[in-house]
Amino acid sequence: MPRLLAACSALLLLTAQVTADNWPFQGYRTAPFLPPKVKVTKSGPTDPGYIFIGPRGNQQQGTAALIYDEDGGLIYQGPEEVTANFKVQKLFNEDVITFWAGNMMDLGFGYGTVHILDNTYTEIYTVTLQDHFISPDGLPRDSYIDLHESHVTDRNTLLVTAYNITQHDLSAIGGTPDDYMLDGMFFEIDIATNEIVYSWSVLDHLADIPIEGSKQGLGEEYGTPQKPWDAYHINSVERMNEGYIISLRHYWSGFYIHNNGTVMWRLSGEEEVGDFELDDHAVFSWQHDIRVYNQTDEGMVVDLFNNANTPTDVVAATTGLSLYVDLVNRKVSTLRTMMDRDDVIHSVSQGSYQLLSPQTSHVFMGYGSIARVKEYDADNKEVLTVQFGDDNAVASYRGYKCQWKATPFWKPAIAIFRTASDSATLFMSWNGATEYDNWAIYSAPTVDAPNPTFVTAVKRDGFETTAHVTGLRTSYLQVVARKGNIPLGSSVMAYF
Ligand SMILES: *[C@@H]1O[C@H](CO)[C@@H](O)[C@H](O)[C@H]1NC(C)=O
Ligand SMILES: *[C@@H]1O[C@H](CO)[C@@H](O)[C@H](O)[C@H]1NC(C)=O
Ligand SMILES: *[C@@H]1O[C@H](CO)[C@@H](O)[C@H](O)[C@H]1NC(C)=O
Repeated sequence: MPRLLAACSALLLLTAQVTADNWPFQGYRTAPFLPPKVKVTKSGPTDPGYIFIGPRGNQQQGTAALIYDEDGGLIYQGPEEVTANFKVQKLFNEDVITFWAGNMMDLGFGYGTVHILDNTYTEIYTVTLQDHFISPDGLPRDSYIDLHESHVTDRNTLLVTAYNITQHDLSAIGGTPDDYMLDGMFFEIDIATNEIVYSWSVLDHLADIPIEGSKQGLGEEYGTPQKPWDAYHINSVERMNEGYIISLRHYWSGFYIHNNGTVMWRLSGEEEVGDFELDDHAVFSWQHDIRVYNQTDEGMVVDLFNNANTPTDVVAATTGLSLYVDLVNRKVSTLRTMMDRDDVIHSVSQGSYQLLSPQTSHVFMGYGSIARVKEYDADNKEVLTVQFGDDNAVASYRGYKCQWKATPFWKPAIAIFRTASDSATLFMSWNGATEYDNWAIYSAPTVDAPNPTFVTAVKRDGFETTAHVTGLRTSYLQVVARKGNIPLGSSVMAYF
């Protein structure tokens, strides 16, 4: 299964076992989808929202942006493609869907495009990055946005990461003067115009972030243009009051970058490194998804996904960490640590930390290379686990819980199976629709009959609803998705 190997090694899943493709799938009569069946366990009250994932790995199908409800029912499947960061964000004060789609490289990054859809799933913006980049195969790409970040800011820009290949003297770390490495870059792009409004490169700041500080060994096979050394592995960017905070996984650190480009401070997960003194629980490594809240001149809350593992490390529990960074006393204290003691996870790559709401303090975590997402309550207790594939065989780079209301621009789908001359079994679905709660079924003698006859109404039953209708005297059927009595969308008039 070459796709598995490519996808997994791409995100440092080097120890992944190629397992049989035997995770259960769900098929439908009305849509050509085979998304994974998800296993849901719930042990307490949860926050509202749907589960947003983008699985990829050993599964033949269902590699797509997927939305499920908490009962494990599919709500939406997007096109079959590798996606990342599939979620709801606010853009120009409206809820929109954003996701990255593209190709992953074996080296642990990707080239792709960020798609932005409105609540009818119409693509309203397509964000690309078309600067001059060098790729491992030397081939040009339509867009060089990397998969690791697609964050919409409060000024309607998009923050993205990018990886570039550069010749660099690596003799200081046991390489040669002619070696090649990956730069870590981020870009802020104006969503409406696709113009770059800010860009930053680690390689312009070697005095503050020296290559000797990387935790990622050079290794025998790396250092060529085809296999450049991944010194930094930038994997998140967020706006701060006067700049940006970035996560460099291979430095076990977050860095605060001022608007003028200067590296202002380093929050390292390692004791005695960086600009802050850590309490005993604030230690972290190989982290993802650094998020900042309540920033003042005195301090801020920093949340992150603490992988605490790579294939070569001592095995340690992966946790969610919420830290208070005290800028005055230069100290870091741990506010929250999240892990499920009944299901301790060791995630060697990827992952996410999402604060669901300041009111409930619930946190939603995607476990990256481990095909699970979990929700924790305000006491850091696990209340929900959703599994969507075999561990280390299927990954979702990040996983989110989002509230979302959508009424698709496409029509509901209908499939009819005649069971007798006057009766039929009907299947109906409306991919992505969240607002309808029942189906009205109509019959008509011709495809364009002006007033179809109401036959019956049935309650919505998950993604695809089934109904049996009898006593039919005409040859056409149409189904209408409704909220109460209000029609939201009609299928074609279908012959049976
Ligand atoms: C990528 O690196 C090449 C050198 O390898 C350089 O010429 C090019 O400007 C870099 N691209 C960006 C966007 O910095
Ligand atoms: C950027 O701004 C910070 C904060 O004012 C300052 O300390 C730093 O020297 C500035 N860097 C440059 C290159 O101007
Ligand atoms: C931010 O501050 C508010 C007000 O003090 C508090 O309720 C909230 O929990 C804080 N957010 C985080 C993430 O700590």
